Amino acid sequence: MEEQTPGLDPLSQTNVSRETLHDGQTARISYPSPDQVGTAAWDASSPHFVAPPMSASDELTPSHDPDNPGARRAAPPAPEPVPTPPQAVTLPRPAHTRIFVVANQKGGVGKTTTAVNLAVALAQGDLRVLVIDLDPQGNASTALGVDHRLGARGSYEVLLQSDTIAEDIVVSSEDPRVLVLPATLDLAGAEIELVSQVAREKRLDKALKRYLKDHAVDYVLIDCPPALGLLTINALVAASEILLPIQCEYYALEGVTQLVRTIELIKTDLNDALTLSTVLLTMFDSRTKLSSQVAEEVRAHFGRQTLETVIPRSVRISEAPSYGQTVLTYDPASVGSRTYRAAASEIAWRGVQ
Ligand SMILES: Nc1ncnc2c1ncn2[C@@H]1O[C@H](COP(=O)(O)OP(=O)(O)OP(=O)(O)O)[C@@H](O)[C@H]1O
Ligand SMILES: [Mg+2]
Repeated sequence: MEEQTPGLDPLSQTNVSRETLHDGQTARISYPSPDQVGTAAWDASSPHFVAPPMSASDELTPSHDPDNPGARRAAPPAPEPVPTPPQAVTLPRPAHTRIFVVANQKGGVGKTTTAVNLAVALAQGDLRVLVIDLDPQGNASTALGVDHRLGARGSYEVLLQSDTIAEDIVVSSEDPRVLVLPATLDLAGAEIELVSQVAREKRLDKALKRYLKDHAVDYVLIDCPPALGLLTINALVAASEILLPIQCEYYALEGVTQLVRTIELIKTDLNDALTLSTVLLTMFDSRTKLSSQVAEEVRAHFGRQTLETVIPRSVRISEAPSYGQTVLTYDPASVGSRTYRAAASEIAWRGVQ
């Protein structure tokens, strides 16, 4: 077991062994073992659990690590066999709807990318998914192929005009099992407009509970803006689990302590069921020491919660949204698709254990 320094840091809850931390690179990008994810998920022939080698078409984006200039000169990856097309894998259905808020007040860490790709990966596992876009930027709506121009109705109308979720949801063009409550630009004013509302922190919770009473949904994923304002607080009150994406970059844990404090306050005052159940390392660059150091630090803080699957930095992942797609439909055999499917599988199997 990891040496603990109890009392020094409330975040230091870890069950990660030194072997895991100091293993080679592949250990950090490995998929869950059969006993971690349940034997039914383990199929050696399934692309869901094949370690994700880099293909020439899915090369990493250039490194910017000044501490490790040699990273730029790293040898190109060896040529690979053509990847086999992914096979459909059914994921386990949770006993109750799992409501995840994808939150991190740090910007650009992969919240939206994670929300939309996990949504489609879970749907491809034959689960029913609702994505709630709570970010005025509307990036999740775009990636899921949903119209969110001015005039469309969505999360703003649900929060501030008493629309029901059922009235405003749209089926994603990515997968018919993904429903989206889009974000429109109106949502930009919602932080201020919510301040004067009655029960302003609970408006999404109320609307979602009402929706889930009549509609069968396995997963709700709420994409949040990069701030701890009333929109994120509405999401934290409505959710049962937090999915915290952490970018393997400088200052990765910056702001996480503040988020954890906010979570504690929400638990005490508004939603005692909330748990930080899942941490996902994103944009891992295997050529840099920095990525490994960040991954190690995160696993030291959030050992149990951190998924084994790590999302690598990948050109395909960043290209997909400009086509109004997730990487899962844009390039299903890419390493980005395979790792997001593996992350979805890990989450789904953890949920039934
Ligand atoms: N694994 C990845 N590899 C390469 N690029 C990525 C990866 N994940 C996300 N990106 C890119 O990084 C940028 C930020 O990602 P994303 O929009 O998901 O972050 P975010 O946390 O939702 O940002 P914001 O805080 O602004 O809402 C986007 O351009 C996205 O395409
Ligand atoms: Mg975002």
